[in-house]
Amino acid sequence: MTENLSVPHVLQARNLVKRYTEGGTTVEVLRDVSLHIAAGEMVAIVGASGSGKSTLLHLLGLLDTPSDGDVEVDGQRVAGLNETERSRLRNRRLGFVYQFHHLLPEFSAVDNVAMPLIVRREKRPVAREQAREVLAQVGLQHRMEHFPGQLSGGERQRVALARALVTRPGCVLADEPTGNLDRYTAESMFELLLRVNKEFGTALAIVTHDPALAALAHRQLYIEKGKLVES
Ligand SMILES: Nc1ncnc2c1ncn2[C@@H]1O[C@H](COP(=O)(O)OP(=O)(O)OP(=O)(O)O)[C@@H](O)[C@H]1O
Ligand SMILES: [Mg+2]
Repeated sequence: MTENLSVPHVLQARNLVKRYTEGGTTVEVLRDVSLHIAAGEMVAIVGASGSGKSTLLHLLGLLDTPSDGDVEVDGQRVAGLNETERSRLRNRRLGFVYQFHHLLPEFSAVDNVAMPLIVRREKRPVAREQAREVLAQVGLQHRMEHFPGQLSGGERQRVALARALVTRPGCVLADEPTGNLDRYTAESMFELLLRVNKEFGTALAIVTHDPALAALAHRQLYIEKGKLVES
């Protein structure tokens, strides 16, 4: 991989290994994965089902810890941090869109999106105002007070994206944000991701099954047999 020294990295992974041990058997899902994501860059991560895409994204998003290797966010090493420091770094610098949206069913769209700001002790009216702004930017101004159960799959994914963006993170990690959507809705979600990348300068790491969508990213990374290959 080429190093671009003029652009700072928002995310860097060095020699990541992830093993799961169950019933005496150890499975090495990721072996020696290194990558970097520059500020403002859009990277697609592709691979077969079970190849370790979600596992990698969770490590990059500081939602899980590697068996070996380390992640750096804005040049800060994560390995030495305790759980609280790790959560703070995640909340300040990263946004995450889960494979299955993970919205809180008992909260409205605006309250779901406001949540990361509430977590960082922003006042509720301020948090809700910022949440409204981002929901409008993802085209959901007419769905602010709807609950997740009252939204379509595509709308839910937009709320999940708005929640990831509301803190203005340097990088958003999205795990198959178009995976459960029909072709048309998937394309419009991807166009939205492209717009977010361009207009906000947010770096994006997107896991997708869809080669046509992956081709729209600046770089494509493939996971195979626990290794990462750039194409
Ligand atoms: N908590 C866990 N304990 C044991 N094995 C796990 C755990 N999480 C994931 N795995 C295994 O790691 C492998 C990779 O899983 P992962 O969810 O990262 O795949 P994926 O590439 O995201 O697949 P998909 O495209 O289906 O979402 C799978 O074989 C899975 O069974
Ligand atoms: Mg997955």
